[in-house]
Amino acid sequence: MVRTFLLALLLVQVLWAGPVRTRAAGLAGPGIALFLPEGLEPAPSPSLLRAPRIGAPLPRAWKLRPAFGAGGGRSTAHLDCGPGVDLYGTGEVTGPLRRNGSRIRLWNTDNYGYGKDGGRRLYQSHPWVLGVRRDGTSFGVLFDSSWKAELSCEEGVTFSCQGPAFPVLVIERPGPLAVLAALGDLTGRMELPPLWALGYQQCRYSYEPEARVREVAREFRSRGIPCDVLWLDIDYMDGYRVFTFDPAKFPDPARLNADLHGQGFRTVWMIDPGVKADSGYAVFRSGAGGWVKTASGEDFQGDVWPGACVFPDFTRPSVRAWWAGLYGPFLAQGVDGVWNDMNEPAVFGTPDGTMPEDNRHAGGDGLPAGPHRQYHNLYGNLMAQATREGLLAARPGLRPFVLSRAQFLGGQRHAATWTGDNTSTERDLLQSIPMTLNLGLSGQPFNGPDLGGYAGRATADLWARWSAVGAFFPFCRGHAAKGPQDKEPWAFGESAERTARIALLRRYRLLPYLYTCFEEASRTGVPVMRPLFLADPGNPALRSEERAFMIGPDLLVVPAWAQDAPKPRGAWIPLALVEGEAGDPLQARLFLRAGAILPLGPEILTTRDAPEGATTLLVALDARGRATGRIYADAGDGFSYRTGDFRLATYEARRKGRGVGLRLAVVRGGRPPAARPPRVVLLH
Ligand code: NOJ
Repeated sequence: MVRTFLLALLLVQVLWAGPVRTRAAGLAGPGIALFLPEGLEPAPSPSLLRAPRIGAPLPRAWKLRPAFGAGGGRSTAHLDCGPGVDLYGTGEVTGPLRRNGSRIRLWNTDNYGYGKDGGRRLYQSHPWVLGVRRDGTSFGVLFDSSWKAELSCEEGVTFSCQGPAFPVLVIERPGPLAVLAALGDLTGRMELPPLWALGYQQCRYSYEPEARVREVAREFRSRGIPCDVLWLDIDYMDGYRVFTFDPAKFPDPARLNADLHGQGFRTVWMIDPGVKADSGYAVFRSGAGGWVKTASGEDFQGDVWPGACVFPDFTRPSVRAWWAGLYGPFLAQGVDGVWNDMNEPAVFGTPDGTMPEDNRHAGGDGLPAGPHRQYHNLYGNLMAQATREGLLAARPGLRPFVLSRAQFLGGQRHAATWTGDNTSTERDLLQSIPMTLNLGLSGQPFNGPDLGGYAGRATADLWARWSAVGAFFPFCRGHAAKGPQDKEPWAFGESAERTARIALLRRYRLLPYLYTCFEEASRTGVPVMRPLFLADPGNPALRSEERAFMIGPDLLVVPAWAQDAPKPRGAWIPLALVEGEAGDPLQARLFLRAGAILPLGPEILTTRDAPEGATTLLVALDARGRATGRIYADAGDGFSYRTGDFRLATYEARRKGRGVGLRLAVVRGGRPPAARPPRVVLLH
């Protein structure tokens, strides 16, 4: 009933918005069409790396053409996708993997427990849809506008924004992976993260004082549970002033960081955008003149954690440079990574939880001045961009690690992300899989949920099942809200702790493969964690599968609750990685594609102890007795890989009698191989 009403409303909006002629349409690249409506003003793209230009006429047989419209303060575009098309992507979304019939709002929102608006708008906006036809041929549609908008996949695809006319790009490819690679060409790709960021990460709102941080570190090591990163949430700050440390609770952050480094941990510390309006505070003073303005031209002030705050206007290049410069002294305390939170931006006590839509941003360097309604969805991206630039400037020899809660299409260039304040419920455990998958199908490979659930109480069973499957998410971090319940792996009793230890040891054994998948994602834009249909786009039975998933092209992960999940074509060989996993009914089942070679490492507790490359190659021969696989290895951090200091080795295996013969087929990069060649194990 409600759905019918909403659909009718949308149709009225679209119809009411009278048709707008397409001023120009043509190919902007092979298989990429650009459509420009009448009335379009030249403006820089909010998400594309380069302004697309029409270079060739549109082929007559080109299928997907948007119908533009305008009226009632809105600009719209509608695409009739034809019958039998499955739709995906649309960014960070609750609900099913397959987006047909869904309707979301693109207006970045601090959405605790996904409660606001029925979870139809979250922290990020991706005006992007991936479509897969019955025969597996695929397309992508990108609506190039950052304005407040709605995206509907109810009857075809409709984008309707409260802003001016916008371009539409349509990508046509033989399959979905190729569409995602083209999306990467257009919007940019994740930079290769440091290896440590692929390890397990433990967070809490908040570990404080520093003695508690040390205690958590000790527990991980003494219990033999892998962990690479400890996270410092807002309570480390002095009165929630960003770039400060509470002198009583964190008297010597440099020493704390150094001690944790000594135990093989890294630390990530939170930085929010709201700057406390406090004339005695150096950051407030030094940022003067750079804040977002109200419609009447005053500095806008709104409440966040520290009380009244001002907000850097990240559309201004000079403000981004100032913000980037703040990281030098901060990182000098031994801080390894930065967590940008609340950057929708969240503002407490306002009708919509953010700043007024008519606030003013000044822009610069080609970005026009504009209202907040235009820049709201870009605020998090621009902040993360400035943060990343700050990390790079302060430590040019190290790969920055930034996590950002708010993002926009293309945000993968600046930061990894997580899916915000989920809850410790069955609903959020189950939907964390399609959420992570759809973000990957929207250009962001480095993402994941708060494992175990952030808000509310988790049962031991729920938490353990979540850790068993979450160990395979690209971004793998346990987190918990303030409150009485601890959610570290040992907080739920022995059995849940054992499940988490086994699951995380499996992840650490898989690091050589995971790193190889991350390298591929950083080069081509394809996701690390993938829905099954990407491995077999022609099979309609896989199109809605959202319980089982793949890591890269070869590893299938089937959660304990999804043993009946269909598999992509070919044979899949069960595999065991860690002692005790077979006896644990909560562990996910892992399968290797017949014809693949899986690189593995040893059981370790921190990536600091990871040997370079693989120590074992697990071979699953196909029916012809052959297999191939790749391993990427480099220094694990730094940028020497960009000048050839890496090793991407392709192996080929063949059955030889009852055993297997292995051949190094191709090596790219100049980094020498590990001293000890990997052990080859044939999987039966
Ligand atoms: C909101 C974030 O989503 C959450 O992860 C964090 O713990 C709190 N802010 C406090 O900083």
